[in-house]
Amino acid sequence: MRFQPLFVAVLLATSLIMAALIINSKRPTVETDQPSAAHVTATGKCASCHRTTASAVVHEYEMSEHAVQGISCLDCHQPTDGQEEVAHNGFVIATDLTSKNCATCHKTQYDQFLRSRHAAPAMAAVTGPAGFTEEQIEFAELHHPGTVRRPANALSMLEGQAAIDSGCVKCHQIGAPNADGSIGSCTECHARHNSSIRLARTPETCGQCHMGPDHSQLEIYHESKHGVLFVDQKADMNLEAKPAALTTADMPVPTCATCHMSGLNGTGFTHDTTERLSWFLYAPVSKKRPTYVQGQVAMKSTCQQCHSSGTVERFYEEAEQIVASTNTKISEALELIAAARADGLMTSEPFDEELDFLEFDIWHYYGRTAKHGAFMGGADFVQWHGNYELLHYRVKIESAIEELRAAI
Ligand code: HEC
Ligand code: HEC
Ligand code: HEC
Ligand code: HEC
Ligand code: HEC
Ligand code: HEC
Ligand code: HEC
Ligand code: HEC
Repeated sequence: MRFQPLFVAVLLATSLIMAALIINSKRPTVETDQPSAAHVTATGKCASCHRTTASAVVHEYEMSEHAVQGISCLDCHQPTDGQEEVAHNGFVIATDLTSKNCATCHKTQYDQFLRSRHAAPAMAAVTGPAGFTEEQIEFAELHHPGTVRRPANALSMLEGQAAIDSGCVKCHQIGAPNADGSIGSCTECHARHNSSIRLARTPETCGQCHMGPDHSQLEIYHESKHGVLFVDQKADMNLEAKPAALTTADMPVPTCATCHMSGLNGTGFTHDTTERLSWFLYAPVSKKRPTYVQGQVAMKSTCQQCHSSGTVERFYEEAEQIVASTNTKISEALELIAAARADGLMTSEPFDEELDFLEFDIWHYYGRTAKHGAFMGGADFVQWHGNYELLHYRVKIESAIEELRAAI
């Protein structure tokens, strides 16, 4: 038949076109939506000039998954809604980037982040609701009642604006309101140009903020068996594994991210760091979170990717006993001080006399540390930085009150 070769040729051509269309439709929209010549030019021009100015930026970018995926400098530096447009060597760029730029491509992560206390509640802990829109406040209050509509922090106000800007804000800006109407910064955990998952899974990344006597999570982690094993085995782990495909074979030892965010063995990862918590541990006297049950189920199921349920239950029982005993110790100390205040032995001003500091330290340093230590495997923090100091501060508080009574 004469038609047969023609028919085969047409069939072949059609399938090739179809295949090309299907392959094209699977490409990321950043590739298909952009004229690729301009895209390459943008990265090429920015990069070639910036190799001589701020060159580390270019090297960091070249190591990133973004470079592999063909995301250009301009893809991130393009001004989005509400951002100032700056003319820059033939391009129009934004110089102040926010989570809004990342959210143009990573909306799921942004939405989860918004539900967490890393968003509005973190900044409001220092400055109160200033700078947030009514809508943003409503949203945050729905998920975390009382966390945004509150006065600016009394201690920071006494320390002054310079201390706030270079101290509190540097950690709490993870949830700051941005001029473009978005909230927070993704690069606190991801860095600006490297954007690596490995970095986000490294304990020191979280430890930039989660350290020190008032929230010693990094120090506790380093003391724990988990932290010790991680240092030993890090080089053999696959810390770059894609979040959706992360298994216990890639990371047999957990870091902060594993317990609080990752989805081991297909269990689903999250940017809402609140999801797996059951207690308000940072509070003076800890109460159960409204999501106590779900929080505990979610965290325990993470532990159980690596441990038997018996080990996990025993661990939680011991930790909850520390919560109960710390609550008793702190409540008693706070009652003594409340009575002294009621008796007119103290002023009602914050942080203007020694007893105010003893009151703050006993729960903010030692009570918290004991509870955090118990839940994350830091025996020294439960004991010497926790319970021992609780005893010591109880005696200090009693002596200070006795002295005040004697002075009347
Ligand atoms: C012809 C050279 C050149 C080109 C092309 C160029 N830049 Fe720049 N860029 C500079 C110089 C010079 C600075 C200022 C550095 C300084 O202040 O030390 C700068 C600064 C910047 C800053 C910081 C601005 C600020 O105020 O903080 C950003 C962001 C930036 N460039 C991004 C880009 C991007 C994105 C592209 C491509 C779309 C690009 N640049 C193309 C030379 C260039
Ligand atoms: C994943 C998004 C992303 C990509 C891709 C990206 N940048 Fe940036 N860049 C940022 C963010 C975020 C900042 C911080 C802006 C701020 O401070 O508000 C920044 C800041 C900068 C600065 C100022 C740095 C400093 O320390 O003073 C320069 C210069 C810059 N970028 C150039 C580039 C160049 C050149 C490329 C491509 C080789 C590039 N960027 C690609 C997100 C990106
Ligand atoms: C123009 C779109 C675009 C923008 C803007 C963008 N990304 Fe990405 N990003 C991608 C794509 C595509 C990938 C690769 C596919 C994936 O893993 O989702 C990626 C991957 C990532 C990864 C995983 C990297 C890895 O090692 O696998 C992180 C983390 C990330 N982006 C963070 C950010 C942050 C933070 C910003 C803002 C500063 C940002 N991205 C801005 C498109 C973008
Ligand atoms: C080193 C980083 C860092 C600095 C500096 C810092 N904080 Fe925090 N802050 C944190 C972290 C991390 C937490 C979360 C503790 C937890 O949940 O265990 C926190 C928790 C809090 C909380 C309790 C949570 C809440 O929403 O009520 C308040 C209030 C607070 N910080 C206020 C301040 C004030 C005010 C300053 C400055 C005087 C300050 N912080 C300085 C990192 C920091
Ligand atoms: C730039 C500083 C910063 C970094 C980096 C950071 N955090 Fe936080 N984190 C905070 C602050 C501030 C709070 C307290 C927010 C509040 O309650 O007001 C917080 C709160 C939390 C909470 C308690 C949330 C709740 O509902 O009470 C968890 C869990 C947490 N962070 C885990 C992490 C993990 C895991 C990482 C690293 C992957 C990390 N954080 C990185 C600043 C940071
Ligand atoms: C508290 C630290 C922290 C903050 C803040 C944060 N991330 Fe992440 N991000 C992580 C961690 C940890 C992972 C890896 C989770 C895992 O272990 O699987 C991750 C993974 C990612 C990935 C890779 C997803 C994939 O499937 O490949 C993207 C994209 C991403 N983040 C974007 C963002 C964006 C956008 C923001 C801001 C809205 C943001 N992140 C804020 C810690 C953070
Ligand atoms: C082995 C798992 C595991 C690791 C690793 C881990 N955590 Fe935790 N974390 C927990 C558990 C369990 C709790 C208590 C949860 C609850 O409330 O039920 C907790 C509580 C917290 C809280 C307290 C929130 C509050 O209410 O005050 C913060 C903040 C936190 N972790 C941050 C970190 C950081 C930062 C790291 C790494 C330096 C880390 N965690 C490592 C399991 C872990
Ligand atoms: C990614 C895997 C992984 C996750 C998730 C994990 N662990 Fe572990 N854990 C380990 C490994 C590995 C060891 C060391 C086991 C050994 O010695 O053989 C360990 C050790 C321990 C130990 C023994 C500590 C000691 O001093 O000997 C306890 C208790 C423990 N984990 C509790 C937990 C709890 C509770 C959780 C969840 C909040 C958890 N782990 C999450 C991997 C994990």
